[in-house]
Amino acid sequence: MSKLHVTTTVNGDEVEYLCDPRETLLDCLRDKLNLTGAKEGCGTGDCGACSVTVDGRLVCSCLMLGVEAEGKQIETVEGIADGYVLHPLQKKFIEYAALQCGVCTPGILVAAKSLLEKNPDPTEEEARYWLAGNLCRCTGYDKIIRAVMDTAAELREAS
Ligand code: FES
Ligand code: FES
Repeated sequence: MSKLHVTTTVNGDEVEYLCDPRETLLDCLRDKLNLTGAKEGCGTGDCGACSVTVDGRLVCSCLMLGVEAEGKQIETVEGIADGYVLHPLQKKFIEYAALQCGVCTPGILVAAKSLLEKNPDPTEEEARYWLAGNLCRCTGYDKIIRAVMDTAAELREAS
């Protein structure tokens, strides 16, 4: 099958790749752009480990084709930190020990950042609901939610 040429923007940088029309965005990010932060936990849209944003919308990159990224603005976990300076969410995840194996963590960080951009003052229920599509088999979720809620409070104080 002939490859298709895709030009898109990932974390602010214009990039291009050739892909099979059936390849997922997740595989294109990982295998063609070496952005291996997004993980394949299930490949069926159930775990959230592959979460990225596309034109500001949170999506499972395992459910999107690489060719559909043409002309889009993609944000991945690799774009969350500012160079070597961690995003407040990343600092809080460390502070609260909100990760263990880390497979879910990139997707949860992307999803949590998306939540706080849309809703800087979420209730705990809203945060839990927003992150319900991000499964974690290790942490029991409470540390994750505490880290997200504390980040939200810190960002509100700073604004
Ligand atoms: S790998 Fe995409 S939702 Fe699980
Ligand atoms: S830290 Fe292991 S799946 Fe979440």
